[in-house]
Amino acid sequence: MLEADLLEADMEREADNVVHEAKPADSSGMTERRRTFLERWPSALMGFGLVAGYGMFASFIGQFLFPSRKKQHASQYVADLQSFAHGQSMTYVSPAGERVVVTRVAETGAVEDFIALSSVCPHLGCQVHWESQNNRFFCPCHNGAFDPEGNPIAGPPQEANQALPRYQLHVENGLLFIDASTERLVKLA
Ligand code: FES
Repeated sequence: MLEADLLEADMEREADNVVHEAKPADSSGMTERRRTFLERWPSALMGFGLVAGYGMFASFIGQFLFPSRKKQHASQYVADLQSFAHGQSMTYVSPAGERVVVTRVAETGAVEDFIALSSVCPHLGCQVHWESQNNRFFCPCHNGAFDPEGNPIAGPPQEANQALPRYQLHVENGLLFIDASTERLVKLA
């Protein structure tokens, strides 16, 4: 009889504990976990906002310091191969005034027959011209000279190893095209 009473008392105590654990943590009806979550939520939101804000600011500064420019490239017609004789040269000029000399140095009919080089001397910016009799580009300002590939062979450009900038060309259906930014090159009339 005593044992039955003790067993019954233990069962009541355990049932009471279960009910006690399931009870809300406070009088407002919130559990501990829910209250912690609600307390931390504004801080997390503020942290996320700060990170996003700093990220946008860094992106803005990056674009300001290193602006990206999209250059549009296109093939531009230069000449008919039939009408561009060996030893002849012609000039293209950019909208900004940069001049490009296209010269025919062979007669195989391939793109290797042609060379397109900037006509601005890399020494001090004078205009170079093609001398077919000497097979070179010559700069009269300080007697600078360049081979047909634009490599320096005399004068200050040779001493400073300054070559003429070169442009890509290609041949299609017997026509010569120059590959360059449309912002930079237009045909000289
Ligand atoms: S500018 Fe051409 S050699 Fe000086």
